Amino acid sequence: MTENQKKVWITGASSGIGKAVAEKFSRENWKVAISARREEILKEMAKDQNIFAFPMDVTDQNKTEETFNKILKEFGNLDLCIFSSGTYERKSEKGLNVNNVKTVMEVNFLGVVSCVKAVQDYFQNKRAGHISIVSSPVGYRGLPKSSGYTASKASLNNFTQGIYFDFKKFNVRVTLISPGFIKTALTDKNEFKMPFLKDTKYAADKIYDGLINKKSFEIIFPPQIAFIYKIFQILPNKVYNFLINKFVNR
Ligand SMILES: NC(=O)c1ccc[n+]([C@@H]2O[C@H](COP(=O)([O-])OP(=O)(O)OC[C@H]3O[C@@H](n4cnc5c(N)ncnc54)[C@H](OP(=O)(O)O)[C@@H]3O)[C@@H](O)[C@H]2O)c1
Repeated sequence: MTENQKKVWITGASSGIGKAVAEKFSRENWKVAISARREEILKEMAKDQNIFAFPMDVTDQNKTEETFNKILKEFGNLDLCIFSSGTYERKSEKGLNVNNVKTVMEVNFLGVVSCVKAVQDYFQNKRAGHISIVSSPVGYRGLPKSSGYTASKASLNNFTQGIYFDFKKFNVRVTLISPGFIKTALTDKNEFKMPFLKDTKYAADKIYDGLINKKSFEIIFPPQIAFIYKIFQILPNKVYNFLINKFVNR
């Protein structure tokens, strides 16, 4: 470990986007704390000298706070958090399944809220730091056959923008990360052709660049997805509903 090495905590780090981001930060010589439920995968990743495993389930709020305190004790300080944990069960999304909606909200929304709560006092007292949250542009507006996932991401988008103001007063930066389609275990369940599909390395590079070299509130990629979803965001209901019904609602 080098002196003044920067430190990051990444959740959802056992696979997909979170894993690729953890490996990217390690390559950039950050000290990286990784969390997710699958302990064995985290241990394997922690063979990398810059990566340290802190397993936890984001739906357990006490464990989340305990995990953060453990990281702080071992690392001494923390500069950045990337909250990337998330779940999506495509089959259960098609109907209106209350249990599925509850699970998805507990992981994708409340799980992230618990993570932010765990780091809140630390960053606000220090009057420095950076919290970033991996949400999704699908949360901008409603979509068919997605009873829980898009609602959880809509909540997360709104929450992230809200805490942006609350943390700004304490000089703590908050960033919303909005990936387009990235090839991971989560999207491998999709049976439709995903437009502008990218790999996790692409996502990790974009996220690293946005967090470290840029200042904007939202990191959205790839550009084609950013363009389409930004248009979707401002269309009147009549036009948006017509387009989604015609091209997506099959
Ligand atoms: N892939 C895409 O196209 C895409 C697009 C937009 C947004 N996103 C978002 O990006 C994030 C990462 O997704 P991904 O595509 O990389 O999927 P992924 O490969 O399935 O990764 C999901 C991660 O979340 C962790 N996780 C799930 N439930 C958890 C829980 N209860 N407690 C702690 N960790 C939990 C998983 O680890 P364990 O199973 O080991 O706990 C895993 O590390 C998600 O928030 C997703 O909604 C993905």
